[in-house]
Amino acid sequence: MPWGLQNRLARIIRSDGHTVMLAADHGYFLGPTHKLEIPRKTLEPLLPFADAIMVTRGVVRTSVDPAANVPIVLRVSGGASVLNEDLSNEKVTTSMKEAVRLNASAVALSIFIGAAHEHDSLVNLGKLVDEGEEVGMPVLAVTAVGKELEKRDARYLGLACRIAAEFGAHFVKTYFCEDFSKVVESCPVPLVVAGGPKLETELDALDLAYEAIQEGARGVDMGRNIWQSSNPVGMIRGIRAIVHERSTPKEALDLVKGGKPKK
Ligand code: 5RP
Repeated sequence: MPWGLQNRLARIIRSDGHTVMLAADHGYFLGPTHKLEIPRKTLEPLLPFADAIMVTRGVVRTSVDPAANVPIVLRVSGGASVLNEDLSNEKVTTSMKEAVRLNASAVALSIFIGAAHEHDSLVNLGKLVDEGEEVGMPVLAVTAVGKELEKRDARYLGLACRIAAEFGAHFVKTYFCEDFSKVVESCPVPLVVAGGPKLETELDALDLAYEAIQEGARGVDMGRNIWQSSNPVGMIRGIRAIVHERSTPKEALDLVKGGKPKK
């Protein structure tokens, strides 16, 4: 792997091999998502605890202070909104040149395995990896499931993650599922997990992160379960404790409730 690409990736996946990415790119197809209506307000208190943030260029430009110096994972695919039945009709909507100009640490694109536009999304990924390799920019492939959340089983996600890696993605974002270790085993690049829709309790989301790490995920790229929590800062601190300090969900829950970090 070229030095520049490794260096960018190392800003996201930290020296312990793990990462807490804060996902806030939802507006690119969902519009003003609950609790992300004013991105700057949502993001600012969380930035000190995020190893990277995943956002669109619109949010980078309008809502992230350049001096915050937080690594940016730039969402560069899009083209369908939640009002469309088929969410898979995406293209690359932000150029590699723009990603470099914004000093992104990686670019992210969704692939839609088994969906109407599977082929286009995979060709998009291949091209993006070629362009990324030219300038030293890592590519994160997101194994999107559209509206069909029931697709999130190890067989489907294993297939999607492996294909993403075969196309050259440098890391992959997917969903946690039963038998997640099988998804990890058959994917030769690092995996991070999304949180998905807000779970009933904070402990449920902490459990998800804990199980994912136990089964080999390199970290999380979590959004709604952090910023839709009643205590977003406590929640991201709890997730950090699980990902970077091997805390248990119960220990992490103390942080969500306002306790002090371990050590
Ligand atoms: C949308 C995305 C989101 O970033 C992803 O869903 C992560 O956020 P959450 O934890 O809220 O699910 O990639 O395609």
